[in-house]
Amino acid sequence: VVVRAQAAAAPAVADAPLMVRAARGEATERAPCWMMRQAGSGCAPCWMMRQAGRYQAAYRELARKHPSFRERSETTELIVDISLQPFRSFKPDGVILFSDILTPLPGIGVPFEIDDNKGPLLDNPIRSKEQLKQLHKLDLSQLQFVGESLKLLRQEVGDQAAVLGFVGSPWTLATYIIEGASSSLYKTIKSMAYSEPALLDALLSHLADAMADYIRFQIDSGAQCVQIFDSWGGQLPPSQWDKWSGPYLRRVIESVKSTHPSTPLTLYANGSGGLLERLGATGADVVGLDWTVDMADARRRLGSKSVQGNVDPTVLFCGEAAIEAAVRDVLSKAGGKGHILNLGHGVLVGTPEEAVAHMFALSKSIKAAELVT
Ligand code: CP3
Repeated sequence: VVVRAQAAAAPAVADAPLMVRAARGEATERAPCWMMRQAGSGCAPCWMMRQAGRYQAAYRELARKHPSFRERSETTELIVDISLQPFRSFKPDGVILFSDILTPLPGIGVPFEIDDNKGPLLDNPIRSKEQLKQLHKLDLSQLQFVGESLKLLRQEVGDQAAVLGFVGSPWTLATYIIEGASSSLYKTIKSMAYSEPALLDALLSHLADAMADYIRFQIDSGAQCVQIFDSWGGQLPPSQWDKWSGPYLRRVIESVKSTHPSTPLTLYANGSGGLLERLGATGADVVGLDWTVDMADARRRLGSKSVQGNVDPTVLFCGEAAIEAAVRDVLSKAGGKGHILNLGHGVLVGTPEEAVAHMFALSKSIKAAELVT
């Protein structure tokens, strides 16, 4: 009897983490929840707010000691420590690797910097056929810190959460490579789509193959779910997205699925209300939603596809009652199946850490069975 009781109490090791089960479309006892640290923003006033620092005090303190973003995001010890900061504080169901979508670019021959005030900067934006020659196949020996960090994170996190990897979509990476910095209008790359389509196609194809290799490397190193950020896909009219983002996303996803079929892939695009069905049709397992789409509409438009999101990040400034109302609205409209609770984008600079803690606590206390759908 004793032996049986112990067996029943032991964690189900063979079971995939809650987040992976939800990504696969399974009904879960509650919605898994994770959040990303505030990351990309194309909006100029957001740079000015950066002086305030990121939302976690522990991160701000570490950033003071290690002021270079490249150092913070390319040193195994720092990557692991920073990735675990939210895990230590909030016990989320997913632990995202601390890195950037631009991190693999030097590995294909594109150097970059992240300037404290201006964001990402590339000295030599690629705008000619001649410059394309500098690109090479992804050199994983330059990304060993990513592989090592994912391995260590799996050891640290165990079966308490899923370890998440990520990459940028070919289109979104190309906006930085061609514009040379964060952009608000994307004039250079959009013009290139009309004036030099073969050049843009060659760049996007190269990025698609490199990102497929990079995703495989992350999965082989321990990532249990990988998110593709097509962050600036929503900047394209849908008919142009069909030419310049969708096909390259499908190329990445088909390539990864052909070798690693069981690791869920999530696709997120900012401002994607006009693209939802298209995002769902790429072959991604989960569609990440921003907060501008109602969860009930997303469910109708995406059928049985798993979804992630989509609480408005600014509600975390509005007190516990507002947070609870927003979380319950999203949870009940999503239903208790194939849903990963998240914000509609990253945590905003200046967000009170207690508000983040409150949202995580709510996510754990609200069971799928009690949702009124
Ligand atoms: O929770 C986490 O640790 C998330 C890790 C993460 C970062 N960047 C760290 C980062 C992730 C998932 C990203 C992805 C990323 N990077 C995206 C896609 C996500 C999105 O926002 O839609 C994009 C477009 C980028 C490009 C990028 N990197 C920009 C535009 C900036 C400046 C943004 C800003 O608000 O300052 C970065 C820098 C960056 N990457 C920061 C962080 C935490 C801020 C710099 C810092 O903390 O020193």
